[in-house]
Amino acid sequence: MAEVVIVPGEAEAGELVAGAIVALIREKPDAVLGLATGSTPIATYQALARRIHDDRVDVRGVRGFALDEYVGLPPGHPEHYRAVITREVVEPLGLTPELVRVPNGDPAGIEHAGADYERAIVAAGGVDLQILGIGRTGHIGFNEPGSSLASLTRVKTLTEQTRTDNARFFDSPSDVPMHCITQGIGTILRARHLVLLAFGEAKAPAVAAAVEGPVSANQPGSAIQLHPHTTVIVDEAAASGLEHLDYYRHAWANKPAWQGI
Ligand code: F6R
Repeated sequence: MAEVVIVPGEAEAGELVAGAIVALIREKPDAVLGLATGSTPIATYQALARRIHDDRVDVRGVRGFALDEYVGLPPGHPEHYRAVITREVVEPLGLTPELVRVPNGDPAGIEHAGADYERAIVAAGGVDLQILGIGRTGHIGFNEPGSSLASLTRVKTLTEQTRTDNARFFDSPSDVPMHCITQGIGTILRARHLVLLAFGEAKAPAVAAAVEGPVSANQPGSAIQLHPHTTVIVDEAAASGLEHLDYYRHAWANKPAWQGI
């Protein structure tokens, strides 16, 4: 079962995850981080940037792999995930840009981009800590319902629900690309530690299905139940559909401090 930590809000979640990442980097200066985009991890990246700065953490050797990228956005578009990762992660954290990769969403050569990305992750020794958000469809990465639980990085078609949800980042809903390239569920499950973040009531059904529902390709987030080390960090609203809330609170309150998350 995933560990579920219920926090007051995104800031507290950010502090928890930032602490775990700083500890990881101190132990392994060339740690490999798995990076989500979207709204959910923003407070975590901000907290991490503060910790790195305040505690003078040397992050020059830290490597990163983004979860996904849109296919076919014009170069220079602000929602290109390469641009988002540069703006929200690489620059504020002070990471070395060449050590942070994003799947290549250029339609020219897209048929090889998934396999290339998989090779790069393997060559880096795998992801140490993977930050995940979850979509209202239950997707992790952009693995929409029906994605194989063994899938690797490949091109997927976004659901209309996800395109509508992500339209807030674009001038017009029709500008949201139809296709993406995303790490597969099998890719995500190979990371050594999964940290899934979710905030707000709109995420409650997806969180409940991921944490307590049957493991099913129909709910891609439920694949986290197959992983030996998953931490789910949610606010009260996102936790509101969970059945075993009392137990999660009890386990967290009594957790030995040395375990971390
Ligand atoms: C982003 C990603 C997606 C998002 C999810 C939630 O790289 O892989 O799974 O985490 O769509 O998006 P937000 O955080 O914007 O609600």
